[in-house]
Amino acid sequence: MNIADAADFAAEIPPNFLVGTATSAFQIEGAVEQDGRTPSTWDAWLGDPSKAVDGSDARNAVDHYNRMPQDVALMREAGLDAYRFSVSWSRIFPEPGGAPNPAGVDFYRRLLQELSDAGITSVLTLFHWDTPAYLETGDGWLSRNTATAFADYAAFMGQEFGGLVDYWCTINEPATVVGNGYASELHAPARNVGLKALPAAHHLLLAHGMAVQALRDAGVRGKIGMSNVHSPVVPASEKDPLATAGAAIVDVAYNWLFADPVLKGEYPWGVEKLTELMGATIHDGDLEIISTPLDFYGLNYYMPTKIASGPGPDGPVPASMLIPNGQDPSPLPLPTPVHQAEWPDRDMTAYGWPIAPEYLGVMLSRMRDRYPNLPPLLITEGGVSFEESPDPDRGRVEDHNRIEYLQDHLRTLFATTSAGGVAEGVSVGGYFIWSLVDNWEWAAGYRQKFGLMHVDRISLERTPKASYSWVRDVQRARQSQQ
Ligand code: NOJ
Repeated sequence: MNIADAADFAAEIPPNFLVGTATSAFQIEGAVEQDGRTPSTWDAWLGDPSKAVDGSDARNAVDHYNRMPQDVALMREAGLDAYRFSVSWSRIFPEPGGAPNPAGVDFYRRLLQELSDAGITSVLTLFHWDTPAYLETGDGWLSRNTATAFADYAAFMGQEFGGLVDYWCTINEPATVVGNGYASELHAPARNVGLKALPAAHHLLLAHGMAVQALRDAGVRGKIGMSNVHSPVVPASEKDPLATAGAAIVDVAYNWLFADPVLKGEYPWGVEKLTELMGATIHDGDLEIISTPLDFYGLNYYMPTKIASGPGPDGPVPASMLIPNGQDPSPLPLPTPVHQAEWPDRDMTAYGWPIAPEYLGVMLSRMRDRYPNLPPLLITEGGVSFEESPDPDRGRVEDHNRIEYLQDHLRTLFATTSAGGVAEGVSVGGYFIWSLVDNWEWAAGYRQKFGLMHVDRISLERTPKASYSWVRDVQRARQSQQ
């Protein structure tokens, strides 16, 4: 373990850099039937208890809806600069085409007020995967109507909260929604339609662009952006042409399919094939809307991806949604089989994700090289799950491995973006630790613990972990050094 003294580490962090945490509504709020909220796709998906690995649901999650002031107080106590949260769309608009729900609006107004009183910068995400169930009973994101409904929701939010929000993040990780929820069935709404999911990608991107315009029209004072997940893709061997070609294709699916339209106004490599698949989905003018200039770009970084040729340990594992899942013949010149390779020399998270901070720098340099007009970045998510439980004597989680993870990723960020670093010149204004508290990690239920605070699953009581205390000590030291 190699953990720096908090005061020494504080001195390494640039003065205005935002150290924050991130959460999302469905993962923390609970109160799914309280105050007029109606179900999202995730509530509906959970009708089948076998869906999450531990059979759990998020009916109560960590009851943030009812414990919000306490959670904000805990952020304040830790000296956090910023907080990224998402809004439950079906709390605001419980019925299709209906009136906004005053109780839902009031909850987010109180949250924003608490944050402002605590001096915490707010980052409001409009959509973090919990599509209202009434939209999903149509074609969900396969339909353009969902994008226009989202634009209406964004316009309302802009008018209502335009003066209170510091950063607006339209959509979180559309790639995950499309890959896990539409192409396959790992996530809600579990459509499992393979490459026929591509229209959902376009509609999510269109919804993003329309929302940016709606927020601008509403005259919001905050900065506007979105969050994409990025994973630098590398071949297992540069000398293996199949692995190299496979990595290039997976790179498109993982990184550029969702970023190029936003940052360049065009779809990436394979565009003719993609547009063919999307059929009449793309209308004239859509790419101009999608590429409406942003004030910031949110990048979620967790790990790199390594692609090897040949069948993987469990056979030819589909390496991405562009690799057909036995449902469609590949329209792309894919060398098959390829698979995601192991990282034998790396420590792993509880999810089995390789811990590789230097690849954050690699990703940033690739972003800089690909996008000459890259807006300032925020790392809108980064963090780690470990197998952990409270220490029997002290009653708290001694997650020194999480401290090391965070320290190493932040150090990499500062080193690679400064003079002489591989990502020199990239402006990164903050890092949002996923997550404030252990929470409901989608298909992994409560098993994957990412929080700075442990939550007792019976009492829902929060207990700060060692990582929380470390963040607090670093932040206090930063404040006293200023
Ligand atoms: C990205 C997602 O935005 C978030 O919801 C999820 O919990 C984390 N990754 C960790 O898997």
